[in-house]
Amino acid sequence: MANADPRDDVLGRARVKDSAELTAYYEELAELETGALWTVANDIEPWEPTPKSDPVIWRYADLREQVIRSIDLVRPEDAGRRVIYLRNPKRKDVSAACGWLYSGIQVMKQGERAGAHNHAASALRFIMEGSGAYTIVDGHKVTLGARDFVLTPNGTWHEHGIEETGTTCLWQDGLDIPLTNALEANFYAVHPDDYQSSNLPVNDSIAAWGAPGLLPATETWDKPYSPLLKFSWEQTYEALSNYAKVTDGSPYDGVMMRYVNPYTGGDPMLTMGAAMQMLRPGEATKAHRHTGNIIYNVAKGSGHSIIGGKRFDWKENDIFCVPAWMWHEHANASASEDACLFQFNDLPVMKKLGFYKEQALVDNDGHQIVAD
Ligand SMILES: [Fe+2]
Ligand SMILES: [Fe+2]
Repeated sequence: MANADPRDDVLGRARVKDSAELTAYYEELAELETGALWTVANDIEPWEPTPKSDPVIWRYADLREQVIRSIDLVRPEDAGRRVIYLRNPKRKDVSAACGWLYSGIQVMKQGERAGAHNHAASALRFIMEGSGAYTIVDGHKVTLGARDFVLTPNGTWHEHGIEETGTTCLWQDGLDIPLTNALEANFYAVHPDDYQSSNLPVNDSIAAWGAPGLLPATETWDKPYSPLLKFSWEQTYEALSNYAKVTDGSPYDGVMMRYVNPYTGGDPMLTMGAAMQMLRPGEATKAHRHTGNIIYNVAKGSGHSIIGGKRFDWKENDIFCVPAWMWHEHANASASEDACLFQFNDLPVMKKLGFYKEQALVDNDGHQIVAD
């Protein structure tokens, strides 16, 4: 058979030429629900990861009004969640934004509540605008402001709402739904009482576990996710600003800090990681690539990223993705202000399964050639 990739015409790869006899043989094998491995081997064992997603940017200027329109069109009680999801043009079949990650923009107005449910998929939220939002996770109520990051780990009961005194809120949801479905492991349940009732103090998770470098001396935690459910923007930005004063940062990511489970130092949830990175004024990183998919939300500032040789200009609240094993580099547009990128990713999966690989671009002083 014809080899599309000239690298495949070597000993060790499948390079059997077609013949009438073989074609007949393949047809007989197919009748038995079998096939000759060498007809598919080069496809199913690529030389390196072949991302199935496009790099995409979803601009807030285009999306915000459309998301807000949904307030008048559907009620959260009927929609389950009132979300406009981000659909990668190459991943329509699995409703993914990138790779095996799902993302969407959810909107709720003051006084609204979305009922409690749980699922095997892990979820997170990054607040984009509004005040008075809250999430309740297994009875722990967490109040949320813009650019806060909150967890709803797999298997936990969770619900969202906006206080009567709040404003219309928009936030980004991030889930590993496509991954969970690919592994045929997803479950979903609606809370028997529709909403949780709890006597736990509001923000108890943050009060107990949210102090930098300090843990409750007499409490233990045995769940596989972070006991700290919310990571506030103020604390995150302060930490990044302080760190920026004492580090050169990464040549590929600028000044970056991971959100972690304070009890273990590991990722906040089993399957998804998250980080915030600061690009200092005028900073432009070099390109690298790695396994794992990244979905970014611009938390602050403006700039551009070059992903797979294409330039994507971004500003606050824009969302964009970097598919697996695709070259990427980031640049801050401002010479005086920093820019911050929130990201969530599937790197914990890559690392736990032994699939994590990273490579720096060496050519052209570490920068991609941008396609027209
Ligand atoms: Fe959920
Ligand atoms: Fe990266």
